[in-house]
Amino acid sequence: MKRLLHIIASPREDESRTLQVSETFLDAFQASHPNWVFDELNLSKEELPPLGMKSVSGKYILLGGKDLYGRIKETWVEIVQHIERFKTADLYLISAPMWNFSIPYMLKHYIDLIVQPKYLFRYREDGSTEGLVKDKKMIVITSRGGQYTGNMKGYDFQEPYLRCVFGFVGITDICFINAEPMDMGEKVQKEKIAEAQEIAKEAAKGA
Ligand SMILES: Cc1cc2nc3c(=O)[nH]c(=O)nc-3n(C[C@H](O)[C@H](O)[C@H](O)COP(=O)(O)O)c2cc1C
Repeated sequence: MKRLLHIIASPREDESRTLQVSETFLDAFQASHPNWVFDELNLSKEELPPLGMKSVSGKYILLGGKDLYGRIKETWVEIVQHIERFKTADLYLISAPMWNFSIPYMLKHYIDLIVQPKYLFRYREDGSTEGLVKDKKMIVITSRGGQYTGNMKGYDFQEPYLRCVFGFVGITDICFINAEPMDMGEKVQKEKIAEAQEIAKEAAKGA
């Protein structure tokens, strides 16, 4: 059975505008892909392991081309579980509001945890890097208080960052659905959520 991993980075549950669009996506996706399972990783509910001395040391051991050992290997058990959960998914949906022009900190924590040498990328002999997540698609649904078009485009560090970091690990087929502006009146908010929901329905059929 194929699995869609839904990574949620808004703590606002039923109040979340982002999740209103994501739910439309998931309903449409389920209708056209009835055999898939949904695996929800809510980053405000599931506590991620901290990145402290031992866990970060593991990254440097791997960067040095060695395998993990002893206490560091034990510390990494949970990290490896998260990496495997990510890597073995067949499709990714990220639901993330814009926070301070970029992503919420819990999503950054998750990315820092899973983007690891040997697992998600590797160095080739010539020093170039290779992403190890092959042939996977990602949908990113965001909502933003403001509108990041025209002269505000340069303030958007959310979409370029996510394209960069997931492209680095090999996921280059990424579709963004941005509901914006959300914080400029209720009427505009409703219209823009409805517009994003229509785009989400189409994206779900094609995913
Ligand atoms: C901590 C925090 C930081 C925010 N920073 C920005 C920002 O930089 N730019 C912006 O347009 N909106 C910003 N917003 C507004 C949210 O992006 C917007 O309200 C969004 O729709 C919230 O999504 P949610 O309802 O799914 O949580 C911020 C909101 C919060 C709580």
